[in-house]
Amino acid sequence: LPQDQPYRTGYHFQPPKNWMNDPNGPMYYKGVYHLFYQYNPYAAVWGNITWAHSISYDLVNWIHLDIALSPDDPFDINGCWSGSTTFLSGGKPIILYTGGVTMNRQVQNLAEPKNLSDPMLREWVKSSHNPVITHVDGMDSENFRDPTTAWQGPDGLRRVLVGNEMNSHGRALLYRSRDFVTWTQSKEPVHSSTRTGMWECPDFYPVSIDGKNGVDTSSLDKFRKHVLKASFNSSDHYVLGNYTAVTDNFSVDTDFLDNGSDLRYDYDNFYASKTFFDSAKKRRILWAWIQESDSTTDDVKKTGLVYSHFPRSILLSKTGKQLIQWPVEEIEKQRTVNVRFKNKELKGGSVLEISGITASQSDVEVSFNSSNLKEADLLDPSWVDPQLLCSQKTASVGGNIGPFGILVLASKDLTEQTSIFFRVFRSNEKYVVLMCSDQSRSSLEEGLKKTIYGAFIDIDPLNEMISLRSLIDHSIVESFGGEGRACITARVYPKLAIDNQAYLYAFNNSTFDVNISTLNAWSMKKAQIVSFTKRRKPH
Ligand code: FRU
Repeated sequence: LPQDQPYRTGYHFQPPKNWMNDPNGPMYYKGVYHLFYQYNPYAAVWGNITWAHSISYDLVNWIHLDIALSPDDPFDINGCWSGSTTFLSGGKPIILYTGGVTMNRQVQNLAEPKNLSDPMLREWVKSSHNPVITHVDGMDSENFRDPTTAWQGPDGLRRVLVGNEMNSHGRALLYRSRDFVTWTQSKEPVHSSTRTGMWECPDFYPVSIDGKNGVDTSSLDKFRKHVLKASFNSSDHYVLGNYTAVTDNFSVDTDFLDNGSDLRYDYDNFYASKTFFDSAKKRRILWAWIQESDSTTDDVKKTGLVYSHFPRSILLSKTGKQLIQWPVEEIEKQRTVNVRFKNKELKGGSVLEISGITASQSDVEVSFNSSNLKEADLLDPSWVDPQLLCSQKTASVGGNIGPFGILVLASKDLTEQTSIFFRVFRSNEKYVVLMCSDQSRSSLEEGLKKTIYGAFIDIDPLNEMISLRSLIDHSIVESFGGEGRACITARVYPKLAIDNQAYLYAFNNSTFDVNISTLNAWSMKKAQIVSFTKRRKPH
């Protein structure tokens, strides 16, 4: 019953039931989008990991198919763990995935579609050559996993990265192959870091510097930069750099966890992501996994409420210094009832209800500006950690210009509210904009994790609007600041603000007035997610 599951989402991808974690091997094949994911068919907790398989024609509505890979061979008996797909010559897709052999030994395996003329690719066959990549002496075999999509160098060899650690530090090992079966390890990892632990789910791909289209993983166009992403510290971090295919040298512009530069896809309930190149619409699409924000809550645990993010397209920003993400355009087909207005002053200390849409399942775009920027509070030079700053200066702490933003999944009396807001500071002759997602009052339920998230966002409020888009879906709030320059996803479990008892507000808790330049909000249709599975023989 819906009232028993108020946290089930309406338009985010979700498995039929039970546990999911990482998205795996996403691809576009013969008119069909494929998504595989780490899935436990038997329970709502991690374990018995298989590759579940779902397909879509529009990235919104999904059909669940039979499980593609199950852990029933000696080379994956402990689990079919994360991996990727690659198109071989002739457009044939192949899966390279991690097999758990024992709890402390991982290897890399291949699987191929049984029938290439079936666009749904319903059946997958594991290679007789498995395992195709194993660790060598002296290497950590317990942390050796998550192969990337392969790319092809000018010498015709395919290359993949595998996540690993050495002396407890993260690195991405590089392997080369001519036939995709025999792989040789390069002496040097493509990159490593002494500031992090194990790198899970590395991803490595080019982005075009003109920022308009995504590019194929093997593209060696000279107008490109490369992105290296690694999952560690419960977060997806990336660096940008220049990759030279002839030498396989990757030189980074800024490094992981550099002082003053911690580039992340999302700041942050966002983990183990993977991208793929969509050849139909010439874009690169990002998928990730939204974890429970509290797995100890019984109610939450028993329904197995784990989801993936709404897919985002990903591009390099005009500055060349960061990535820009935006929900794929197909989401706009889900928009129904609309409310909109322009130029509304939000007085200091005021709250404005945005009524007329289904606030628990909505898409909201709003942009703000202020004619009082010169009054902005001074940024203390010691305030370098945006998450800490948002945690100290929550939505209820007033400032001169900010906090202003929206209250989502709020109860009518505002005792429950998740607030996504901005603050503007002055620092030397510049303005600094902080974006926060404050979950501290998201639920009256006690014992939940209500971590506050934050990010500095590269907006110049003198010359542009401060814009925000939030995808609100019952227990998920995905927010995009500055047209995708900073993204923050939160997972919340309100007690009162559920279904038609959830409300949406704009607010300004600053001393000075701000102006809503435009606001546009929509109710969102539910996605159709159905199962189309054959009867399976019992295990
Ligand atoms: C990341 C991860 C991967 C691994 C998979 C197992 O969430 O730990 O490193 O392959 O999940 O399910």
